[in-house]
Amino acid sequence: AIERTFSIIKPDATKRNLTGKIIAKFEDAGLRIVASKRIHMSKEQAEAFYGVHKDRPFFGELVDFMISEPVVVQVLEGEDAIAKNREVMGATNPAEAAEGTVRKDFALSIGENSVHGSDAPETAAEEIKFFFSDAELVG
Ligand code: CMP
Repeated sequence: AIERTFSIIKPDATKRNLTGKIIAKFEDAGLRIVASKRIHMSKEQAEAFYGVHKDRPFFGELVDFMISEPVVVQVLEGEDAIAKNREVMGATNPAEAAEGTVRKDFALSIGENSVHGSDAPETAAEEIKFFFSDAELVG
């Protein structure tokens, strides 16, 4: 089915001018960008967005990283977009990521791993709503 998923191009990638190269991988996989904006997240936004991880030992580090530089938040649309985007991203830990994936090619570490993507339809819907209004989604 045609789905929408939520993506973040993270600070380690925007800082190294990799935005276009990452978007090319999404588009080459058949994902369409239906919304996109470059933002500098506030601490409050990052803490709320990653609220599910608030008890993890890396939470503080994760929030500090996500507010360290601008990010690009996007909505990607396509056939099985959630799974397809996860394939394009590769494993969370770049050491385990498959050849040709974003994280294999660009990620620096498990924390500075260049991209975020929703993991399920419910989280995709929540994450899209967190950053975008309906009017900003242009299919
Ligand atoms: P993301 O998909 O954005 O969702 C949670 C993030 O936490 C994850 O990507 C990683 O970047 C980050 N993360 C997961 N495990 C660790 C870890 N051990 N140390 C630092 N960051 C981590």
